[in-house]
Amino acid sequence: MSKVGIFGAGWVGVVTGACFADLGHTVVLRDIVPEKIDALRRGEVPFHETDVPELLARNRERLTFTLDVAELVDCEFLFVCVDTPPTQSGDADLSRVWTVVDDLPELPGRPILVMKSTVPVGTGEKVRAGLDQRGLSHVGYVSNPEFLAEGHAVRDFMQPDRIVIGAYSDEDGDAVEALYASLERTVVRCDVNSAEMIKLAANAFLMTRISFINEIANVCEATGADVVKVAEGVGLDNRLGPHFLRAGIGYGGSCFPKDSLALKQLASNSGYHFQLLAAVIEVNELQKRRVIGKLKRHLGTLRGRTVALLGLAFKPHTDDMREAPSIVLASRLLAEGAEVRAWDPVADGAKLPGGVEVVDSVLEAVTGADAAVVVTEWPELRELVSAEVRGVMRNPLIIDGRNLLDPAGARAAGFAYEGIGRPTALTDVAAEPEPAPRT
Ligand SMILES: NC(=O)c1ccc[n+]([C@@H]2O[C@H](COP(=O)([O-])OP(=O)(O)OC[C@H]3O[C@@H](n4cnc5c(N)ncnc54)[C@H](O)[C@@H]3O)[C@@H](O)[C@H]2O)c1
Repeated sequence: MSKVGIFGAGWVGVVTGACFADLGHTVVLRDIVPEKIDALRRGEVPFHETDVPELLARNRERLTFTLDVAELVDCEFLFVCVDTPPTQSGDADLSRVWTVVDDLPELPGRPILVMKSTVPVGTGEKVRAGLDQRGLSHVGYVSNPEFLAEGHAVRDFMQPDRIVIGAYSDEDGDAVEALYASLERTVVRCDVNSAEMIKLAANAFLMTRISFINEIANVCEATGADVVKVAEGVGLDNRLGPHFLRAGIGYGGSCFPKDSLALKQLASNSGYHFQLLAAVIEVNELQKRRVIGKLKRHLGTLRGRTVALLGLAFKPHTDDMREAPSIVLASRLLAEGAEVRAWDPVADGAKLPGGVEVVDSVLEAVTGADAAVVVTEWPELRELVSAEVRGVMRNPLIIDGRNLLDPAGARAAGFAYEGIGRPTALTDVAAEPEPAPRT
């Protein structure tokens, strides 16, 4: 078993640390934010992620949380899990990565710096040169990108589709591979540049599938096809597979938006215009806004209308609000003069723009509302179609941004219902809502 140091006690760092500890390694997690370290020492997890609290509790004796970089001095592996947000230009901001390199203490033996943060292709070469310049030529460098999905991160770590290891030397790659020895795994060994590109390309491809099916959904709406059936029929083709073919109101989160921008910018910095990725990004931006058009078609003006946003996190089973479509939707609705009520079981509604009323229950959100919008497919929203909800809404309109509900069931229960890429019933558009209240 090894001693693993981790820079960055954010989502990736904590999940990685908890999982390595569960595999039997000793883990030292270092962050620069005292409140985060204090909370982790108290046994609190600063975000919502399934199984992580249990893993941290069960492996306490193998986990240390610190602000002091000196406590990582005898670690054999130094994982970099710091944030790499976009800059104004769309490039990845690597300043935190460089701070880690600059902060490294005198390190005995042959420790290996392992990059888990998502970084542009070429970062490894620059960090390698930076280590050499700092007299740290004896420190190895390996790229080991992260493919965990929020909401299922522990499962993804313990049952990985693949582990990608890009190294300058076989010995360093072997050492990092050995950390995962107890997992059933397929390992892809490659050069550092290719490992960095695998991460960016995998994310870009997933986003492409989402924007693709969203565009198919939009054409379905124009032609009367049902995208749910279309996706089922397409996804059963073995050459294509069913994943990431759910039409909706677009992707968000801490990775896709920033990683797509970073890859587009990386290509353009290298003299290549990545047209397909540019279109994927644009389609996604437009997709978030299509809900406004649907609401207007049913309600006319949105001024003075009350709209309930149900689900705020960028996807279910996480409280992550980074780049969540709910933020764009809330801003657009406020700009249209609507009253916005918002509910989520775990996400912090305070991250929405000012002026949104954040409430504690679905029922509170929909009471007196002119429309309910399913923004995040939380399982509890499957129960949205009920006589109780129908009874408290001023206008029983559901815009199902994630195709979570059964359209026929919703209509039978007396709601006007519109999903994404699904045929619209005549009754849905014919329903005349009460006039908007004067404001
Ligand atoms: N969140 C995801 O779903 C996901 C998945 C795969 C890859 N990634 C990538 O992993 C990286 C981290 O993502 P995240 O979501 O965990 O970010 P995060 O913002 O949740 O966490 C980053 C942490 O690093 C800390 N930090 C910054 N500088 C530091 C330093 N010098 N020393 C120690 N700690 C420092 C910050 O205080 C913060 O706690 C990013 O590059 C991201 O793109 C994220």
